[in-house]
Amino acid sequence: MTPAQDHKPRQLLDFYLEAGADALVGEEPVDRFAATDAPAPVLAARAAESPAAARPDFTPPGPAISQAAAPQATDEAVMAALQAAKSAGTLDELRALLEKFDGCALKGSATQLVFADGNPKAKLMLIGEAPGRDEDIEGLPFVGRSGKLLDRMLAAIGFDRTSVYIANIVPWRPPGNRTPTPQETQICLPFVLRQIELVDPDILVCLGGPSAQTLLGIKDGITKTRGRWFTFNSGKREIRAMPTFHPAFLLRSPLQKRFAWRDFLAVKKALTE
Ligand code: URA
Repeated sequence: MTPAQDHKPRQLLDFYLEAGADALVGEEPVDRFAATDAPAPVLAARAAESPAAARPDFTPPGPAISQAAAPQATDEAVMAALQAAKSAGTLDELRALLEKFDGCALKGSATQLVFADGNPKAKLMLIGEAPGRDEDIEGLPFVGRSGKLLDRMLAAIGFDRTSVYIANIVPWRPPGNRTPTPQETQICLPFVLRQIELVDPDILVCLGGPSAQTLLGIKDGITKTRGRWFTFNSGKREIRAMPTFHPAFLLRSPLQKRFAWRDFLAVKKALTE
């Protein structure tokens, strides 16, 4: 192999890593165009490894292999999530229930649960989409690059992790940082709703479109909805909620920071009213 050929595989791997494709999904390549209803090898292999993967609702990352049984299995998982979440009387109990919950396939590929960070008595609660690679390693939300930016944004309005509470819609990292599927989101939703109810913040900030759309039930994108106040029923009372840009988006589009700054100022004002 010439030196030029030699560094190509390394470069290709670096490219995949940069693109977020850093999770091993299976040992063998899968021809998804040739998929049938028979269990795919990757499923069979995973079933042997992990109880979560053996569940009928286990959906491997990437395009669906066989979705025939998925809707019903998702309904069951949502019901189980609703029951578990409702039974949690404290945040510690909720965390313990989530640790035991096997209804979301993401648990099988994530390193660990990323439950929350910050002060459970905070008046301000922020909710992102899902943990990324750094969060998956540390077990805490928003500790990577976008988390560092979030910390700076909070500091600019006089807050830090002792005065806010931070969580995600989905508490396990989707492989390769892909967007959680609607099914994964629906399954995890009862837990995050109960988390909000137990924290009982005065103000909720939805970081990014998926968080805002999931929690506030809005269809419009984040560019249209950011900076607007919505009413959110926390289960205990009606509170105010504001969508704003996700810090990861702001890292890619720094010019938009001025709008996020406006949003954070409005949040600070609302908290001191
Ligand atoms: N992005 C999120 O939405 N949440 C995290 O915890 C990290 C990055």
